Amino acid sequence: MKRFSLAGEDAPRVAQGCMRISSLSAAELDRLIKRDLEMGINFFDHADIYGGGECESRFGAFLRDNPSLRGKMILQTKCGIRPGRYDFSKAHILEAVDGSLRRLGVEQVEFLLLHRPDTLMEPEEVAGAFEALKAAGKVKHFGVSNHDPMQMELLNRYLGENRSCVDQLQFSLTNTTMIDSGLNVNMENAGAVNRDGGVLYYCRLGGITIQPWSPFQYGFFEGPFIGSDKYPELNEKLREIAGRYGITPTGLAIAWILRHPACMQPIVGSVRPERMAEIAMAADVTIRHEEWYELYTASGKTLP
Ligand SMILES: NC(=O)c1ccc[n+]([C@@H]2O[C@H](COP(=O)([O-])OP(=O)(O)OC[C@H]3O[C@@H](n4cnc5c(N)ncnc54)[C@H](OP(=O)(O)O)[C@@H]3O)[C@@H](O)[C@H]2O)c1
Repeated sequence: MKRFSLAGEDAPRVAQGCMRISSLSAAELDRLIKRDLEMGINFFDHADIYGGGECESRFGAFLRDNPSLRGKMILQTKCGIRPGRYDFSKAHILEAVDGSLRRLGVEQVEFLLLHRPDTLMEPEEVAGAFEALKAAGKVKHFGVSNHDPMQMELLNRYLGENRSCVDQLQFSLTNTTMIDSGLNVNMENAGAVNRDGGVLYYCRLGGITIQPWSPFQYGFFEGPFIGSDKYPELNEKLREIAGRYGITPTGLAIAWILRHPACMQPIVGSVRPERMAEIAMAADVTIRHEEWYELYTASGKTLP
């Protein structure tokens, strides 16, 4: 597994998403986490709301049974989503982090992200919360999720050394809006619509790591595009190129993300060790420039 420096942490290029782990038995979760660690996938993405807290609790139970493995892991969680609203108040952030630490059974998480922008956000409140969390040793690094550049700029004006080092965004072969607009600048077509304020270029300029979420889902969790009859051309191209490298189409879909020079860290949500192994194997493959574009256009996108 290729690695990179994320805010000074030695991080794997692929992370394990934990949104779906509450469907596993304790034995299955034990197998998934231990296999991930063997493959070098030691970055685990949580959120206080996943499974209504159950995902962090299950992970915490694993850590209680395997305390020596905590030191081998990088843990990330998110906060700021409440039923029916988003809340970046200092009181809520502090309360949410305490809940995550309690469920995970740890004293610190390496990364904390603000899950979805709260338009009523007061940046001074966020700054106060982050300072308190840092001082208490509860969080090492901070970031955001689903934020655009101006929202990050506003926050960063108040965050000082706790400024965002991560933005987690939806991105995959079938969700390419952050790339489409940059390939269609000034055109009258649909691809030219800039939906995110140029977040790809903002993050590259600022050394902010983009973490693509749902790298296999089309739409908003509508299902995996691998093997889907909605994407026949893409699946044919994935099979063709994957065959060249001796990897699977699933693995290639991640190699496609990793080939982008923005050095993104996809958050994979599979809970099957076999699939994670396919992905880990492909993460070491660097596809060719022309293959990257062939896959992009096979997903239904056109170049002007
Ligand atoms: N920041 C945010 O707003 C946000 C939003 C959503 C998710 N996330 C994070 O991103 C992570 C990934 O999200 P996700 O689970 O929706 O992403 P995903 O990796 O795109 O989807 C994984 C799901 O697709 C299934 N799947 C079926 N065929 C597959 C194939 N060929 N290859 C890969 N997966 C296949 C998996 O099943 P199996 O388990 O059987 O393999 C699993 O249920 C989450 O765990 C969470 O940490 C963040």
